[in-house]
Order: sequence, then C-alpha cells, then structure tokens
Amino acid sequence: MKITVLNGSPKGNLSVTMQYVNFIQKKFPHHELKILNIASQIKKIEKDTAAFQEIMDEVRSSDGVLWAFPLYYLLVPSQYKRFIELIWERGTQDVFRNKYTAALSTSVHFFDHTAHNYMNAICDDLDMKYLGSFSAAMYDLMHGKERERCSLFASEFFEGIQSHAPTAKKFSPILGRTFDYIPGPAGQRVSLQGKRALVLADLKEPDTNLGKMIERFRNSFVEEVSVANLRQLDIKGGCLGCIQCGYDYQCSYGDQDEYVRFYKDRVKTADILIFAGTIQDRYLSSRWKMFFDRSFFHTHTPSLTGKQVGFIVSGPLRQIPNLRQIVEAYTEWQQANLVDIVTDEEDHAKELDARLQSLAERVVHLAGKSYIKTKTFLSVGGMKVLRDDVWGKLRFPFQADHRFYKEHGLYDFPQRKYKSRLINSILILLTKIPAMRKEIYRKKIKEQMVRPLQKMLERME
Ligand SMILES: Cc1cc2nc3c(=O)[nH]c(=O)nc-3n(C[C@H](O)[C@H](O)[C@H](O)COP(=O)(O)O)c2cc1C
Repeated sequence: MKITVLNGSPKGNLSVTMQYVNFIQKKFPHHELKILNIASQIKKIEKDTAAFQEIMDEVRSSDGVLWAFPLYYLLVPSQYKRFIELIWERGTQDVFRNKYTAALSTSVHFFDHTAHNYMNAICDDLDMKYLGSFSAAMYDLMHGKERERCSLFASEFFEGIQSHAPTAKKFSPILGRTFDYIPGPAGQRVSLQGKRALVLADLKEPDTNLGKMIERFRNSFVEEVSVANLRQLDIKGGCLGCIQCGYDYQCSYGDQDEYVRFYKDRVKTADILIFAGTIQDRYLSSRWKMFFDRSFFHTHTPSLTGKQVGFIVSGPLRQIPNLRQIVEAYTEWQQANLVDIVTDEEDHAKELDARLQSLAERVVHLAGKSYIKTKTFLSVGGMKVLRDDVWGKLRFPFQADHRFYKEHGLYDFPQRKYKSRLINSILILLTKIPAMRKEIYRKKIKEQMVRPLQKMLERME
C-alpha cells in the first residue's frame, strides 16, 4: 500500500515526529510511506499551484493519508493550518473524500487532545475515514513498550485500510448561518482610566461582522483604542521550531520582521488585550495561529501575566467547544484573565451591542481591580506537565524557563510540608486499629475536613 504522510513539522525531515514515521517504515517495509514536507514548504505550496497540485495527486493515488505533525500551541503549526485552509480555498476537498486516514503527533502532552480533536474534525469535514490517532511524547520511541505501541497503531491503521473497516464521524458538520450585524448607536462611553488597551485583529475587510463588532467595541470608549491588524504586521513566517529562544528568549527571526518588537512594545505593555478574529474551519485563521506560534520565543514562560483579555469572534464558536477550550486554556495558562468571548451568534444586533458594551465596561472595571479568576484544571494540570519537563529533559534546551521556574516558585515539588506529613503518619498508624478506623472514617472525617476552614471563619468574628 502507499500511504501519503503529510509532514506538519516546520523542521522538515529533521523532525522528531518524522522519526516515528521512519520507525513505522522500517517495521513495515512492504508498505510505502511517502513523506511530503508540508509545513517547511508552505510558502512554495501557497505560491506555486503546481506544487500544491502535486501533493493533491499524491493523496489521490494513495491508499491512506497519515497526518503527522508536532503540537504547536495547543494545535498544529500555523504552516500546516495554512495548508488545511488551502484545501478548501482551492476546492480540492474531493481528493480526500472517503480516504482512510489517521493522525500521529509528537509533543510534551500539553493539550495534545485539542490538536487531535481539531485534526479529527478536519478529517470528518473532509469526509475522510478516520481510523485513529497516536499522540507520542517526544522520546517515547526510546522505550520498547512504546515502540510496540507505535507498531500496533500502524498495523491497525494498515489493517483498517485493507479490510475496509467501517468508521464513524466524531464531529457533526458545522451549520452555516447568515447574520448581518448592523450595530446600534454607542451606549454610555467608558473611560479607560489610564489603562492601555489594544485590539489585535485579523481583519480582511472592515465591512464584515468582525469589522463592525470591533468598531462597536471601540465606540464604547471615551478614548481612542488602537487596532493592530495582523494582516498589516510584517511577519515573515511561522515559528521554525529551531528553539534558539530556549537559552535566553531571543527569537531567531530577530529584527528580520516586526513581530518581536511589536510583541514586546505593544502587546506586553497593554493592560487590556482584545483578540479579534473570524473562525476559519475549526480554529481562527492561520494568520492568528502564526501570531500565537511566534510568541513561543517566551518558550514555556507566561508572557501575558495580569492582563485582562477579551475575545471578539465572528463565527460558530458554540459549535466548536474544542476551540473554546483552547482559548480558555491559552489565557489561563498565560496567567491572564479571560473576561469574555463575544461572538456574532446572538439572534439580534441589540444583544450583540449590549455584549460588546458590557465587555468594554468589564475589561476596564476588572483591570482596575487587578482581578484574575481562579485557575482550573486547564492551567493547574498544564503547568504541572510543563514543570516536570522543564525540570527534567527540557532543562538544558530551555534554560531561560528553568531560571524563571526556579525564581517564581514553580518547582513546587517535592512537597516538604512536614506538618502534614507528620499528621498523616500518625493518622495512618491509628487507622491500623479497627476501632479507631471506624471512629475516624465514620464519625470524625467530615468534621475534620471543614475544621481548618471553620477556624478561619471564627477568627473573622
Ligand atoms: C512553537 C512551539 C509550540 C509548541 N507547543 C506545544 C504544545 O502546545 N503542546 C505540546 O505538548 N508541545 C508543544 N511543543 C513541543 C513540540 O510539539 C515537540 O517538541 C515536538 O516533538 C516537535 O516535533 P518536530 O521535531 O517534529 O517538529 C511546541 C514546540 C514549539 C516549537
């Protein structure tokens, strides 16, 4: 069989992910795994329609497609996202229809599930036959058990194709809706009270719902709120994954384009950030993805700490909970406060006016209070994953992170907590006596769990 491997790593063949593909090829020499470098060649693929067509021809003549990519910012790299957009822009969805497919990624398991949900949904949108996904940690291949797992995944994939296995879609198609937003007059204007606000947008045309939502939002303020259009910003390309930034947060693009300067001078200095974009397939645009990926020059260190963040989105966000989770996880991990996500899914323009007005009022109000909402599993869990990796294998390449994590108490292990350890030891010992165990578990435990909190409340009286 011939399998087309669509390589999503900007590093081309010198990619961790491709070593997994090479491994599968060695294990199954009777099948041909034809690797096409997509992400590293995206500029050519975009400009040269013949190059794009060659890829389509390869896919058409293959028995299956393997989407193989590294995780970048909770999704696939921007270059790969652009390729996915091109499939629809150039109307070549039929090339993928009914093809058997699977997804393979490497990562540190930080939101690998959202990237795989995205790829699965894209395959469903393309009417492909999705046989499964394989999400490897970067160096899993070094372990015999994981090699075995990878081998099994590949053989299941090949067998599924050969036996014409039935497959089911996991994600419903997105239902389109036409709603032409005509904003009403501005309400009571809000003062920024000295806070700096910036709207970041990927805006094609001002006369779109997104353009009008941004304008309505800006009209809620007494002062001028500036808009930076990512389309006009000089960004030479997506993140290359070179990780030169790991040593001291210096991006290898340097001053070759405006990105780093812009991020440092405009984004990091704002108190209030509004991210505005239109949904394209099941994410925002690849331009937005490029913006997020390039911010990786901060590696695993949050760069938007303490900021109030709002999202203004045109498109069916309610139908894409995966994207909502990405937005929530991104802001939470950045230690910023996600105030609201306003979309044009409201039934009436008046409701949208009110939501945008309220967003304007709340970002200023909450900036004044320096409010950051409580963390959830998204960042509590996510941070532990990064903490363990930066402490361990990634410490050498990401020395800047290591310094930051050390200085900011992010290495919150091993838990010394001697008092709890002593109490635990005594209680564990006591529960070895059946009568004591009964007394503790049946009578005392609920009381004791609330006791420290009650004591605190008593102190307040
Ligand atoms: C810009 C950038 C963003 C990344 N984002 C994530 C992420 O969100 N989650 C994760 O688990 N790993 C993330 N990683 C780690 C890569 O997914 C991982 O190193 C991968 O194995 C690289 O594969 P490659 O060598 O095939 O490109 C990121 C790496 C880079 C350079």
